Amino acid sequence: MRILFIGDVVSSPGREMVQQYLPQLKAKYKPTISIINGENAAGGKGITGKIYRQFLEWGAGAVTLGNHSWHNKEVFEFIDEAKYLVRPANFPEGNPGVGIVYLQVNGTEVAVINLQGRTFLPAIDCPFRKADELVEQARKRTPFIFVDFHAEATSEKQAMGWYLDGRVSAVVGTHTHVQTADERILSKGTAYVTDVGMTGPYDGILGVEKEAVLKKFLTELPVRFEVVKEGRNQLNGVIIDLDPKTGMAKSISRLLINDDHPFFS
Ligand SMILES: [Fe+2]
Repeated sequence: MRILFIGDVVSSPGREMVQQYLPQLKAKYKPTISIINGENAAGGKGITGKIYRQFLEWGAGAVTLGNHSWHNKEVFEFIDEAKYLVRPANFPEGNPGVGIVYLQVNGTEVAVINLQGRTFLPAIDCPFRKADELVEQARKRTPFIFVDFHAEATSEKQAMGWYLDGRVSAVVGTHTHVQTADERILSKGTAYVTDVGMTGPYDGILGVEKEAVLKKFLTELPVRFEVVKEGRNQLNGVIIDLDPKTGMAKSISRLLINDDHPFFS
């Protein structure tokens, strides 16, 4: 069992990278399933029905979200029919959508869970207690459990990794947009990385036009952040191999495609 995960796809530059490279990555690495974090896919914040369907057409099996899940209001029109769209499971009761989906692959199932941190992010329900509930439910069905933990603080992400170690196949961090080099298998067999990184502009600041961000830092004046529309792009992801019997991780490797790390098919 091999999982390919692509980190936060930002706006059209990110989507173009997915369209260009996902088929090539699938041809090279032959993942059993591919998962994309799409919470920044529509203009930098949120997702639309068209973009969600494109991700599936280009080869994704599921799309995860995060703190911008509801930013593009169109999401409310299609989320009930979007069987492979996963929003943070610890959003308060009454939110639409689901926080766990089961993908059918090769006669087995893979559970995909999305959770969101609470440090420097809205005070939603406890992600740790929600993880307990969902993991207990998922383990009755499958040993293959993938968790996208969308969170700001490295400490909270590491805490979730250790909390779920031995109970899920992988805990990968998203949201901070910079790939961390701490990928590892924790002591009880869970693959972990603090942040997968983002997919989109390579020369901006977290995907945003650097001039606006610099003006903010230099002057503290109100500025409008826009996604970088032209220039070089990047793709960040991970590939995780799982033991077919236990569901625990055998390896985790980072994927980085940009002008400094070109892709070789
Ligand atoms: Fe985010």
